[in-house]
Amino acid sequence: MNELTVNAYAKINLFLDIKNRREDGYHNLEMVMQSIALHDTITLYKIEKGIEIETNHKKLPTGEDNLAYKAAQEIIKKVNLDEGVKIFIDKKIPIAAGLAGGSTDAASVIKGMNKLFDLNLDQEELHSIAFKIGSDVPFCLEGGTAFATKRGEKLRYLTPLKKHNVLLIKPPEMVSTKKVYTLYDEYNIDRIIPVKKLIQIIENNENMRIEDGWFNVLEPVTKKLVSDVEVIKEKLINQGFKFTMMTGSGPTVFSIFENEDINLAKNLIKNWPRANDFIILTETKNFN
Ligand code: C5P
Repeated sequence: MNELTVNAYAKINLFLDIKNRREDGYHNLEMVMQSIALHDTITLYKIEKGIEIETNHKKLPTGEDNLAYKAAQEIIKKVNLDEGVKIFIDKKIPIAAGLAGGSTDAASVIKGMNKLFDLNLDQEELHSIAFKIGSDVPFCLEGGTAFATKRGEKLRYLTPLKKHNVLLIKPPEMVSTKKVYTLYDEYNIDRIIPVKKLIQIIENNENMRIEDGWFNVLEPVTKKLVSDVEVIKEKLINQGFKFTMMTGSGPTVFSIFENEDINLAKNLIKNWPRANDFIILTETKNFN
């Protein structure tokens, strides 16, 4: 085998709570992460030496700033690999969006290189390499529906969420995750998220209603930086999408719903007035 293609799925956060700021500057979180069908496609090719990245996306870095590059670097170092890898990233997930686009590419490189080069690294080793690359990368290795704690790397896989439609809208502005977390520390966001109850709703396959307390504590922060988040959210709620939230550190806003609203969503996409937004209808993705 000289090449391998892997799908790299995006994620949304069904809720995100921050417990506290840690000594190392990161934050201890409690969140549910959910894979969605929107994905990049990563093709890995064996080459003689080094790491090369090619992509269809004009703004994506192709050097060490790309998490996929870092992932390949870590794998090569870990096993002392005497070959190199070329990585082609067919980018569909918007970048700097709160959808773990960079993290999922990195996870796919880790999984993919393990297979392509017959490295036989076990789950624990893959997880530890993934965590070196970023807090969201361990989740992206397996994906599905998971309750994530600590920096996001401690994962408890939940009963897969029943299939939902997911409407994603991302305004054109970029937002730095680090800046959002730093600003969070300056605000006093007083919000209690009923974590146990929300996990039970997923585990019992009950309907998800926003009034049950689903919330992302980073949303009020990002809204201060990107006013479009509120504009988009209001438009979606006014159209009848009650379960509408920001994902991760944003600025992507999503609505999640079952089949009854699918035509409403298609019409909304057709008539969406903000020409520079990225807008797509996708669905939740589970792997078992
Ligand atoms: O881990 P990652 O590099 O993806 O995190 C990006 C930034 O997000 C970090 O530099 C940190 O500021 C913030 N972060 C955090 N606590 C987490 C995850 C991320 O403060 N649990």
